[in-house]
Order: sequence, then C-alpha cells, then structure tokens
Amino acid sequence: MELVLATRNEDKIREIKEAFQNLPIRILTFKDLPKFPLLVEDKDTLYGNAQVKARTVAKFTQKIALADDTGLEVEALGGAPGVLSSRFAGKGASYEDNNRKLLSLLKKVPLQKRRATFRCVMVISNGARRERAVEGTCQGRIIRRRRGRAGFGYDPIFEPQGYDRTFAELSLKEKNRISHRGKALEKVKKILEKWPKSRLIGLTGNIGCGKTTVAHMFEDLGAEVIDADEIGHQLLEKENIKKRVVGIFTESVLNGKGNISRKKLRNLVFKDKKKLEKLNSILHLLIVKEIKKKIKASPSNLIVIDAAVLLEAGWDSLVDKILVVSTPYHTQLKRIKEKGDFSPAEIKGIMGAQLLQSEKIKRADFVIENEGSVDKTREQVRKIWEKLK
Ligand code: IMP
Repeated sequence: MELVLATRNEDKIREIKEAFQNLPIRILTFKDLPKFPLLVEDKDTLYGNAQVKARTVAKFTQKIALADDTGLEVEALGGAPGVLSSRFAGKGASYEDNNRKLLSLLKKVPLQKRRATFRCVMVISNGARRERAVEGTCQGRIIRRRRGRAGFGYDPIFEPQGYDRTFAELSLKEKNRISHRGKALEKVKKILEKWPKSRLIGLTGNIGCGKTTVAHMFEDLGAEVIDADEIGHQLLEKENIKKRVVGIFTESVLNGKGNISRKKLRNLVFKDKKKLEKLNSILHLLIVKEIKKKIKASPSNLIVIDAAVLLEAGWDSLVDKILVVSTPYHTQLKRIKEKGDFSPAEIKGIMGAQLLQSEKIKRADFVIENEGSVDKTREQVRKIWEKLK
C-alpha cells in the first residue's frame, strides 16, 4: 500500500516515518512527487485543516493521503494558541518566535498553572468518499526555559506529564510512544490495516429503475457485486433476528411455515415510518457488518455494492463513488406493475420511503439513464466501467 503524507513539514514526516517503519506501507512525500499541491491551513478547526489537506493531496495524487494538523492548547491562555499554533507569533513565524511569545505570555504564571495539551488530528482520505479522522492528545506543562535539542516546534518548552524531560529531550522513539502524534498514528495504523484494497462503487436507484439489471451488467464485466438487499433477506431468515422482529411486530408477520413473510412485513413497515425505523434499527448495522466482511474477503479490484437504501441508510460513507440508476416516473411505474410483485398501496408506501430520484441524482458521481434499450444501458455501464477499473 502507498500512503502520501499531506504535509511539507519535514519534522512531522520524520516522526510519521519512524512510527510506520516496520509496516508494509510505502510512504511517499512531496519529495517523491514531481508535482505537489499547495496546502492552505485556513480553517478554524484542526479537523477542518487536516481534512482539506488530506482531500487535496489525495485528489491531486490519486492515492491515499494522510494529513496531520496539530495544536498546543495552554490552559492559562484559554486554550490558545490551538489551531493557530504555527502562526502564533504571526504569519511565517519561526518555531523560536512562537516559543518566545508563549513564554512571555506565561511569564507571571506559576509552574502548577501551566498545564497544556498537544492535540493532533489526522485525516486519511482517498480523495473520493472514503475518509477517516482520528485524534491523539498528550498532556503536560509549559516549562520556563527551553530545554533539549531534539524534536521541533514547541517541544523544547513542553514537558509531558510524568516526565521530567521535555519532548526535545526525548528520542524520536520515546516521543512517538507517548505523544499526541504517536497516539493518533497508532489509530491510523489500525485503520490502514482494514483499508479496503478495492474500489467500492455504491449502486442505487429507486424501485423499478433497473438497478438489478445494471448490477448484472457490472458483474458481466468482471466486478464483484454485493447485494445488500439480499443480505437483508438472508438476515430475516436467521432465528435470532426472527425473534427480534416478532418481538416488535408480533407473530402476525409470520407465514404458515413460521417464517417471516417479507410481504407481511413490508405491508406493516411501509405504512408506518416508526415501524420502518424499528426494522432498520435491527437490520442496518448487521447488513453493514456483512458488507464489510464480504469486502474484506473479496479478491476483486472493483466491488459494486448494490443497495436500494444506500443513501437513505448513510451507507454512501462506505463507498468511493455513487452510481444512481434513473428512470422517468412513468417508466418506473410501468415496470413495477409489469413485475406484479406489489400492490398499488405497497408501491405508494415504498416510493414514499425512498428519497426522491432528483435528490439521489444530485448526490451521484455517475448517473445511468435506464430508459431506452438494454444495449443503450449496457453502453453507459461499459463507459463507467472504463473510467473506474
Ligand atoms: P500544524 O499542524 O502544521 O498547523 O502545526 C502547528 C504548529 O504546532 C507547528 O508549527 C509546530 O510549531 C507545532 N507542533 C506541531 N506538532 C508538534 C509537536 O509534535 N511538537 C511540538 N510542536 C508541534
């Protein structure tokens, strides 16, 4: 796996490289890339800055990027300099300028009141939708005079709790073991271990749009399709889930064989939003768990997650791109009626529970107009496949 560090700060790069030393991850920095984007830190939170840096670099390089934004929060100064730590003594201030300013502001503050926290927020982004954020903190105090030559920034005046040495008096390894950045990096490592190697496409569309037909077309081209709706159906057949569903909806949802009748369940939940929410609260987390399991086990480079409720359930956070299959309303209705699976009342209920098609299209990275011939649809699928694979 390759990981680009979204920073030009060589001190941070050194620490991150040390922490990742023995991992099967190839770290790339601005020095390895002939072109590297400009990184601007103008947000008012560490998270905002880290996010924009990670996204910018990931989009620019088309690789996974890791950004770090760090602040020192001094209690006696009401949490300052915080997000402004690098510019504390003004734009372009050196580490020394910042240290001097901080020491001078704390001149009259006794040692026991000089508590401070380093806070490091890291964001990992693939430039598409996949993104995670973590935080690491380290508490300590600001001493009166600089001590030590290692580290950088405020290290010479920061003494971590439980130590009588400053960060600048610790080795890189020692600092990483207890520091804000070291702790954040531990969390990043765990995330990267599980970071899917494949591209994930969320395929969705309202009832009758032909989402399943499109899923099969992707399958024909070599993608693996994970059918979230099918996972939901299989879950309903499990004894423990059946018990929970019956517990909420009573035995009236069972068929003659004592199994859950999806039709009966549908009739209940699509008439009543609260009931639908209850059913979702049983199923959705389990479906996501199963999807993640399948992603992990898949050898495929491109996985399509076929899910009617991708956007409604917030599962779009699982995928890199969203693909919406769209059909004009009259075609949609015609197709549903032709299939004959649903009564008019059921159709109305299901459509009422789905986000409007126009809303879905607004959030889509790709839209397939599934109105004309099968060949026309297949051609659109092929074009998207070429872009994605
Ligand atoms: P930023 O994350 O690049 O905005 O960093 C903010 C400022 O905090 C830097 O300019 C450094 O002065 C300081 N800083 C960040 N990380 C550390 C650290 O690990 N030790 C000491 N100072 C740090």
